[in-house]
Amino acid sequence: MNKTVSEAIEYRRSVRIFKDQDLDTEKVKECLVNASLAPNSSNLQTWEFLHITDKKTIKSLAKACFNQNAAKTANQLVVFVVRQDLWKKRAQSNVDFLNSVFDKQNEKNTEKRRSAALKYYKVAIPTMYTNFFGILGLFRYMFFNIVGLFRPIFRQVRYSDMRIVSHKSTALAAQNFILSMAEIGYDTCAMEGSDTTRVKKILKLPSSVEINMIVGCGVRHEKGIYTERYRIPFDQVYKEV
Ligand SMILES: Cc1cc2nc3c(=O)[nH]c(=O)nc-3n(C[C@H](O)[C@H](O)[C@H](O)COP(=O)(O)O)c2cc1C
Repeated sequence: MNKTVSEAIEYRRSVRIFKDQDLDTEKVKECLVNASLAPNSSNLQTWEFLHITDKKTIKSLAKACFNQNAAKTANQLVVFVVRQDLWKKRAQSNVDFLNSVFDKQNEKNTEKRRSAALKYYKVAIPTMYTNFFGILGLFRYMFFNIVGLFRPIFRQVRYSDMRIVSHKSTALAAQNFILSMAEIGYDTCAMEGSDTTRVKKILKLPSSVEINMIVGCGVRHEKGIYTERYRIPFDQVYKEV
């Protein structure tokens, strides 16, 4: 039987040595479908999941991950890529989707609701994501901070802020993936330790995209977990306000 969410959270550890055992590629792919269901900013889904099963590519990527055991012994790898550059395309997909939803409705306020929803993707999103050598972002930042003197306003409006937003969303997708793998008894190790320029070159990715993390995947070797789990005492990180 599959694990509950709490059981999967408890089971999951960063595994650095994997057994020489093949994973079922289809099952790993299903975990990536779960990744795509993660909450994400504005539903723009500015991510891409590269599921690496080719042994030669795993070897090259392991080298770009500084030959860490978690990459070197992995049966498969998943590269979580931040595709902030695709924001226009993804906004248009949302526009098309919303139009298809509203086309099926025929209520009194359907057109009003359609117009409000589309305005978000046609006006608000381009306002936030359009970047002209950082100049527009700086202008937005100054403008929003002046308005913010008088009323609550969203402050993270620079292109660099949007970059963080895309990384947050992609990391949530990665966590969905990692827990889905744990649910079925598969192991993972999230890695930020890599030469991202080399990683992008190996995967023929445009230089403008960013690597969020690379996840080593396999089945835990008995020596694959290096220490018992350590966490800062909960009362030091938890505050009820
Ligand atoms: C964003 C991120 C980057 C990480 N990078 C690496 C890495 O490059 N190499 C590695 O061995 N572990 C890496 N880890 C794993 C952490 O070291 C690990 O999660 C932490 O020590 C807690 O241990 P646990 O995952 O077993 O609970 C990374 C984890 C995260 C979330």
